[in-house]
Amino acid sequence: MDPKKRVGLEAALRVEDGMVVGLGTGSTTYHFIKSLAERLKEEEMEVLGIPTSYQSYFVAVDLGIPVTTLDEHQPDLAVDGADEVDPYLNLIKGGGAAHTREKIVDYAAETFLVIVDESKMVDQLGAFPVPVEVLPLALNTVMKRLETMKGTPRIRMAHMKDGPVVSDNNNFILDVEFEDIPHPVLLEKELNNIPGVLENGIFTGEVDEVLIGSVTQVKSIKK
Ligand code: A5P
Repeated sequence: MDPKKRVGLEAALRVEDGMVVGLGTGSTTYHFIKSLAERLKEEEMEVLGIPTSYQSYFVAVDLGIPVTTLDEHQPDLAVDGADEVDPYLNLIKGGGAAHTREKIVDYAAETFLVIVDESKMVDQLGAFPVPVEVLPLALNTVMKRLETMKGTPRIRMAHMKDGPVVSDNNNFILDVEFEDIPHPVLLEKELNNIPGVLENGIFTGEVDEVLIGSVTQVKSIKK
């Protein structure tokens, strides 16, 4: 079975009747949302979803999962993908530019479960550039500040639309390459201290468990 499908299925089994569930974004989480929708129908369970993007909102609504907001409910569980996972369960996310809403929902959850295929596991974060969501008016000042931090920022450009990617929150995304990231906890904070940065894609200290899918099995690493 496709590893992404396998972990999505496994994560859907973690959901219990009555739970409020954060619905992450991306191709792996898509399988989770799909498996969850199937379970809800088969087992007549009642669950509410809190989407982390228009993508997960559309998928959830399409598959009949009732959705709610953080104003109304607290998530018991959040299930989300990642672009990189290190041995301390720190992450880089935001390959789909959804990391701001993802971080808000994932960090608010009682339990934060990450689902990935084996290719996402790394010894140290940083081969994947760090996505940084920036208010458009601060683009230049943020880029200059990132260069002083030894980062190489690139504006993420859109496909099937001329010009830059505009996030679900109407901001630009910078993909920032760092030579290495020896201290992800510090870098997560430092990036968010730059005026005009809304949120960055480094997630530290919040993950409770990672499910790693391969073609034959699912492995779990816990905090
Ligand atoms: C969305 O912006 C990201 O944080 C995704 O969760 C991450 O890129 C993983 O996506 P895939 O499951 O598609 O690899």
